[in-house]
Amino acid sequence: MTISDTPVPLRRVGASGLLVSAVGLGCNNFGRPGTKSETLAGTIEVLDAAIDSGVTFLDTADMYGGEPGQSETLMGDALQGRRDRVVLATKFGHPGRDMGYATVGAKTSRSYIRTAVEASLRRLKTDWIDLYQLHVPDADTPIAETISALDDLVAAGKIRYYGHSNMSGWQIAEADFTAADRGSRFISAQNHYSLLARGAEREVLPAVQRFGLGFFPYFPLQNGLLTGKFTREGGPEGSRIMMQRRHVWQNAPWDALERYQAFCDERGITMLAATFGWLLSRPSLSSVIAGATSADQVRSNAAAAAAWTPSAAELATIDELFPLPDDPAA
Ligand SMILES: NC(=O)c1ccc[n+]([C@@H]2O[C@H](COP(=O)([O-])OP(=O)(O)OC[C@H]3O[C@@H](n4cnc5c(N)ncnc54)[C@H](OP(=O)(O)O)[C@@H]3O)[C@@H](O)[C@H]2O)c1
Repeated sequence: MTISDTPVPLRRVGASGLLVSAVGLGCNNFGRPGTKSETLAGTIEVLDAAIDSGVTFLDTADMYGGEPGQSETLMGDALQGRRDRVVLATKFGHPGRDMGYATVGAKTSRSYIRTAVEASLRRLKTDWIDLYQLHVPDADTPIAETISALDDLVAAGKIRYYGHSNMSGWQIAEADFTAADRGSRFISAQNHYSLLARGAEREVLPAVQRFGLGFFPYFPLQNGLLTGKFTREGGPEGSRIMMQRRHVWQNAPWDALERYQAFCDERGITMLAATFGWLLSRPSLSSVIAGATSADQVRSNAAAAAAWTPSAAELATIDELFPLPDDPAA
């Protein structure tokens, strides 16, 4: 379901009652060293532009920021007085960063979740989280325990809905069956997905559709590569790709990207519009949670929500440009 009388259309997240802006904001730039939004002033600037242009779905995680927790802390400060104007999603349980919680148990255990949610609520300066996402599946905790702990948080009013991230197809099925036994459900999945990373089409997206989940693609712009501002010769020096993730540019399939640029030029659209248009045409897609490092970027992304809708023939051409790779790990 789509509601289009808002600046950016709203979409339903899977089979739930949650509505989110079809273009969202990935918030892992808040508190990131070297970006404008490392500071509170920079964070406020990006969030002001987002809210004013209808980008009201905000996706963060407890571990984002130069210091773990910093993205949530900056967002909590920046959203004071207007918390109810956004749909706030965060995540818990990433194995790669120690949040410093004095708790026993693995990172999706009952004990850990109870501690993690209180810390996120404190940093975000809010009484509730709209969507609480398990960041990475954890082999040490039975999924039934995680679901039971999340159901308790819903009952206590601390979270409204819960979802997962980085699950494989079979893990999505296991999570759904286990939750259904309790009359509960995960409402969403978040996985790496873009024109240059289509591996989720093998197992994850069919499972997402089968179980009625909403889908949030992460790295939807391939860190900015799919916005049109890079060429074979280089890209903006201040961009994260050039500063920190040069391999994304170095290893890019430039022949295909140049044909993609020509495809956009023939239609008089920007690559940014084509990239958003393609993502928004994907089944089950709820929101494109693109990151942004400036107010202008977030405004351009909001405008891209309705800039171009591909035809079936155009989707087929894009499939030829960026086919599903043979390597199942891609
Ligand atoms: N669940 C997970 O495990 C997981 C993992 C990673 C990310 N995520 C989520 O996915 C979100 C998005 O990831 P991401 O930000 O790393 O990648 P992304 O959305 O693919 O790329 C965003 C970057 O592209 C550039 N950009 C954005 N809009 C632009 C525009 N209109 N014009 C020109 N450049 C533009 C900006 O970088 P520059 O200005 O530096 O060029 C921006 O930071 C994260 O914030 C997070 O919420 C989730």
